Amino acid sequence: MVAKQNKPKKIIGLIAFEAFIDGNVFGYVHLLAVTHERRREGIATALKQAALDQTATDGCIGMESKVALENIPMQQVNKYWTPEIEPSEEIGGEGFLKTVIPYEQEI
Ligand SMILES: CC(C)(COP(=O)(O)OP(=O)(O)OC[C@H]1O[C@@H](n2cnc3c(N)ncnc32)[C@H](O)[C@@H]1OP(=O)(O)O)[C@@H](O)C(=O)NCCC(=O)NCCS
Repeated sequence: MVAKQNKPKKIIGLIAFEAFIDGNVFGYVHLLAVTHERRREGIATALKQAALDQTATDGCIGMESKVALENIPMQQVNKYWTPEIEPSEEIGGEGFLKTVIPYEQEI
């Protein structure tokens, strides 16, 4: 229960991700979104960094995601980690870029 004098809590951003096995274990981001009024505060960057940290801890060797060709904001967010970007060649993947952020390999 929320006391009357408190403002109702609101979700301002969310990320959905998982680990998958494709020869190696990769992280994959399914969804990342921030409410309009809280954009450009670094929230998406912080959420994705948390997902990168968690999947690296879980043994993944990198993080993949797909971004629509016209989604410049998300492509700009991804540039923070300078990911490898390539056209998505999967069925139904037309119009999307596949981004891969490889984690540093310990030698
Ligand atoms: C894409 C999205 C998640 C970015 O969230 P955000 O919290 O605003 O992103 P950040 O504040 O971490 O942005 C980091 C940097 O990315 C770049 N960037 C973010 N949004 C941008 C925009 N609209 N235009 C240009 N550059 C942008 C900027 O360089 C920004 O740094 P700066 O604000 O210091 O200049 C948000 O716009 C969103 O929810 N969009 C709709 C959902 C979506 O498309 N999700 C991705 C596919 S699932």
